[in-house]
Amino acid sequence: METKIWKADELPAAVRAIKRGGLVAFPTETVYGLGADAFNEQAVGKVYAAKGRPSDNPLIVHVADPEQVERFAKKNTWSDKLMQAFWPGPLTMILPVQPGALSATVTGGLDTVAVRMPDNDLTRALIRDADTPLVGPSANTSGRPSPTIAQHVYHDLHGKISGILDGGSTRIGVESTVIDLSTDVPTVLRPGKITPEAIADVLGVPVEAGQHAVKADEVPKAPGMKYRHYAPDKDVYMVERDEWTQAIIWAQSQLAPVGLMLTNDLILEHQLAGMDFVWSLGPDAQSAAAKLFAGLRFFDEKPDVQTILVAKMPETSENAAYNNRLNKAAGGQDVSSLIAD
Ligand code: TXA
Ligand code: MG
Repeated sequence: METKIWKADELPAAVRAIKRGGLVAFPTETVYGLGADAFNEQAVGKVYAAKGRPSDNPLIVHVADPEQVERFAKKNTWSDKLMQAFWPGPLTMILPVQPGALSATVTGGLDTVAVRMPDNDLTRALIRDADTPLVGPSANTSGRPSPTIAQHVYHDLHGKISGILDGGSTRIGVESTVIDLSTDVPTVLRPGKITPEAIADVLGVPVEAGQHAVKADEVPKAPGMKYRHYAPDKDVYMVERDEWTQAIIWAQSQLAPVGLMLTNDLILEHQLAGMDFVWSLGPDAQSAAAKLFAGLRFFDEKPDVQTILVAKMPETSENAAYNNRLNKAAGGQDVSSLIAD
């Protein structure tokens, strides 16, 4: 199959592909999604095959407007408030599914479903014109960093999907916050741009933000948690601000080049400007989130580079999504294990 890259004015071709039961990658404000008609079980099945994704890991259903949610999920007062406050935007809500509305291919057989209205006009037009909500996991091969430009999607999935709607680079760069609203206490299952504090402010009730690890044989509450995500092919280590001096000495003592990913202030402080194997994360934590996955992919493509050192951000609620994705890419490895004597 030849994978097309469609610009905004070629939207009708993407709509036709979805209506035929094909796969179309779409841009959002977070990362690119891999779209298929959520009501077409066969099309949804192809999403798992194209990604190489375990089929018990359920999908997010993307809608063009809050009304569309009623076709397959049950809203409640919490979801109404959060939709009002944050949609369109990077907040995914877990709600009870309308019995019989969706196949188990979408929900992983759970009685809940994840829903989100992306903040991207082109993609909402795709959903509206195809007249169906779209499932949309991140449009990467399972286990690879999520795609933030159309070319990342093409790299992973060309030949396996009908096409990619090219909306340029995504603004936020890490996936949406996932909040479970099907429980007694609203619970953040995956940190994202929208913080637990911001959600609690809107709901006027406490929000659970704890992360809990799920064993492989457990039927997971947050199914995504048991899979290793965002893993590039190289060894990744997290570096705290005050570890960079020693980390750079270590890197320079290696025979093979070491990839360094850090913010501009650190690049200046350590006189790394203009050097090879340095990937700028931009001025601050926000730009770092937007550039994290692209940087990991950049060094993945460099055959000489075996090791990548990446700046951790201060542990604030706003930075939780960045640090969470970095921690997963690093498999929890900290540079202190390399530089300790
Ligand atoms: O920003 C995003 O959310 C992107 C863009 C494309 O919208 N999508 C995305 O999808 O990250 P995906 O499939 O990579 O992540 C969906 C997460 C997974 O961790 C999955 O386990 C969880 O949501 N999830 C889906 N349905 C669920 C459910 N019913 N209960 C609990 N977790 C669920
Ligand atoms: Mg993903």
